[in-house]
Amino acid sequence: MTSDSIENLSTESRTFAPSPEFTAQANAQAGLYGEADKDRLAFWDQQAEALIWEKKWDKTLEWESPYAKWFVGGKLNTTVSALDRHVTEGHGGRIAFHFEGEPGDTRTISYAQLLTDVSKAANALTSIGINAGDRVAIYMPLIPEAVVAMLACARIGAIHSVVFGGFSADALLSRIQDADAKLVITADGGFRKGAAFALKPAVDEALKGETNVAQVLVVQRTGQETAWVEGRDLWWHDVVDPQHSTHTPEYFDSEHPLFILYTSGTTAKPKGIFHTTAGYLTQVAYTHKVVFDIKPKTDVYWCTADVGWITGHSYMVYGPLINGATQVIYEGTPDTPHKGRMFEIIEKYGVTILYTAPTLIRTWMKWGDEFPNQFNLSSLRLLGSVGEPINPEAWIWYRHVIGGGNCPIVDTWWQTETGAIMISPLPGVTATKPGSAMKPIPGISAKVVDDKGVPVPNGHGGFLILDQPWPSMLRGVWGEDERYKETYWSRFPGIYFAGDGAKLDEDGAIWLMGRVDDVMNVSGHRISTTEVESALVSHEAVAEAAVVGAADPLTGQGIVAFVILRGGVEHADGDVLIKELRNHVAKEIGAIAKPRQIMVVNELPKTRSGKIMRRLLKDVAENRAVGDATTLADPNVMKLISEGLKSSKDED
Ligand code: PRX
Repeated sequence: MTSDSIENLSTESRTFAPSPEFTAQANAQAGLYGEADKDRLAFWDQQAEALIWEKKWDKTLEWESPYAKWFVGGKLNTTVSALDRHVTEGHGGRIAFHFEGEPGDTRTISYAQLLTDVSKAANALTSIGINAGDRVAIYMPLIPEAVVAMLACARIGAIHSVVFGGFSADALLSRIQDADAKLVITADGGFRKGAAFALKPAVDEALKGETNVAQVLVVQRTGQETAWVEGRDLWWHDVVDPQHSTHTPEYFDSEHPLFILYTSGTTAKPKGIFHTTAGYLTQVAYTHKVVFDIKPKTDVYWCTADVGWITGHSYMVYGPLINGATQVIYEGTPDTPHKGRMFEIIEKYGVTILYTAPTLIRTWMKWGDEFPNQFNLSSLRLLGSVGEPINPEAWIWYRHVIGGGNCPIVDTWWQTETGAIMISPLPGVTATKPGSAMKPIPGISAKVVDDKGVPVPNGHGGFLILDQPWPSMLRGVWGEDERYKETYWSRFPGIYFAGDGAKLDEDGAIWLMGRVDDVMNVSGHRISTTEVESALVSHEAVAEAAVVGAADPLTGQGIVAFVILRGGVEHADGDVLIKELRNHVAKEIGAIAKPRQIMVVNELPKTRSGKIMRRLLKDVAENRAVGDATTLADPNVMKLISEGLKSSKDED
C-alpha cells in the first residue's frame, strides 16, 4: 500500500458541536490537551492518582522500545481501587450493577455486595489452590458472576483469560493450552434468543485435550442437566457461598500481569495479548471519566459489550468500577423477546450513557424507528461507538433516533492491544464529524504516516501509528516475544503500527479506514482470514481455502470463503456440503466465524510465488469487476471462478 492508496471517497462537512450546557458540566475541558502536551509524563502521573496505592511509584515510565514499564516500583491491588475504596468512602450502598437476565430475571448489586461477592470468590480461589500468577480461564455467559470471577482473580493476583462464551470447544482448548490455565470458571449455560444454551459441555469437550486444568468451577445459571466429572468439577455455590465474606488484599507490583485476552492475528494461532496492572487501570479509568463524562452519583451507564472482548474488560469491568459508576448489564440478545428490548431497558433503568457498536446500530436501523420510538429514551445524554468505523448515515441515525438530536457521540478508536481508548472526541470539547474518531485524546500521540513512516499532510491517507508509549499498552504476546516484536514493531522500527489504515481530512481529523492486513472485522470482532481458512481445510472435503472479508451492510464485513474440494474423497454435494462446511467452521472457531457465503471453485488466483491474491477474490465477493490480474500465474483463473460460482447464502 502506498500512502495514498486509500481513497478519500466520502467527504463530510457536517459538524456537531456540544451544547454550551453539556460543555459547562463536562469532566474534560479544552485545556486538557495543553496540559497533557506540556508534560506528558506528569499528566499521566496525575491520572494515576485516581487509583488507590499501597506504595506510590518511583518512576513514571521506563521505555526500552518495545518494552514499557509504567509507574515503576508502585504497589496496589486492582480491586481495592475498584471496590473497597467506594465502600470506605461511604458509597457501599450505590448500585454497581443492574443486571437484566434475558428471561427477565433481575438482580441489583451494590458496591458493598460486590465487594462481599468478590471477597468470597477470592477466598474460594485460594481454597482450591489458585495463587498469584496462576492463569484462570473464564468461559461464561454475561452474568454478574463473570465480573465477580474476573475481579476475584485480580484480587489474588491470578491472571484471567476470558474466552468469549460463543467460542467453540476447540477455540477454548487452544486458549487454555496457550496460557497453561490451571482452572476453568464456567456456567452450566446461559440464556440467548429465548432459550437456554449449554456451556459446560464445551468445557468437557475441550478438557479431553491435554491441559493442566485441575478444576472446573461451575456457576448454576440455567439449571439444565449438566454432566459432571467427580473430583474435577465443583459447583460455584458449593465452594463460594460458605466462604468468609471479607478478604484481606495483597498488594502487587504495578507491572504484575492482570489478564491475557486472545485476539486474531494474521496467522491461525490466536495471540495472547497481555496487560499489566497500574498503567492499564490508570488509562481505563481516565478515559472512562473524560470520554464518557461519567458522573457516578447520577449517571446510569450501559456498555453493551460482552466480557469476552476487550471492551467488556475495560469499559464494563475495570474503568467504570474504579470510577464508581452505576451500570446496566444485559445477558441476552437485542431482539428477545422483541426488537425493542434494549430500548425498554434504557427506559426502565434511565440509562444516561450508552456505549455500543456500529453493527448493532445498523441492525436497529434495519428493524426500523418504530422500536426505539415506542420507548422513552430521553434519559440518554451521551452515546458512544466502538469496534469498527461507523458510517456517517448510521452516526446521524444514532444521534437523532436514539439520542433525540442532543447527545454528543463519541466514536472511540482503540484495540485489544491498546487496552483503552486512544482516539476519540471529548464530548464537551470536540465539534464532531459523523464517521470520524477525530483526534488522539490528551496524553496520547497517534499519527498517520506514509510507507516510509513520514507523517502525511492533511487531506492524505496512510498507516495509523502510535509513536509514544502509553500506560495501557499491551506488554507482549503471551509466551511469544518474537511475535510481539514482529507483529507490532517491525513495520516501522521502534514505532507501534496498529494495523489500520487511516486518513486525515483537511482539518486534520482522523478517519479510520479498516485493517490493512488479513484480519477481517465482522460485527466489530477481529477474525483472521487464516484462522477461518485453517478451519475449512481441516474438513475432509476441502483441499484449499481462501477467505476474504467482503463489505456487508449489517456486519461491516462478512466472511466469504472460496474452497477447492479434494478429489477422490466422498462428500456431500452442493448446498448440503456448503452447510456442512459452515457448521464445521462454527464448530472449530465459533458461530461468529461462520462464513456468510462459500463458493466452490476449481482454482484460486495465485501469483507466481504462490501467494493467493485475495484482492481479486474480494472483487468477486463484492460483485465488482475484477481488478488488475496481470500478476496471476494463470490469468484465466478469475474467469473460471466467476463462471464456476456455486454459492450458498447465510440462512441464519
Ligand atoms: O480496525 C480497528 C477496529 O477494531 C480493531 C480492534 O479490534 P479489537 O482488538 O477487537 O478491539 C475492538 C474494541 C476496541 C481496530 O484495529 N476499530 C475499533 N474501534 C474503531 C475501529 N475502527 C474504526 N473506528 C473505531 N471507532
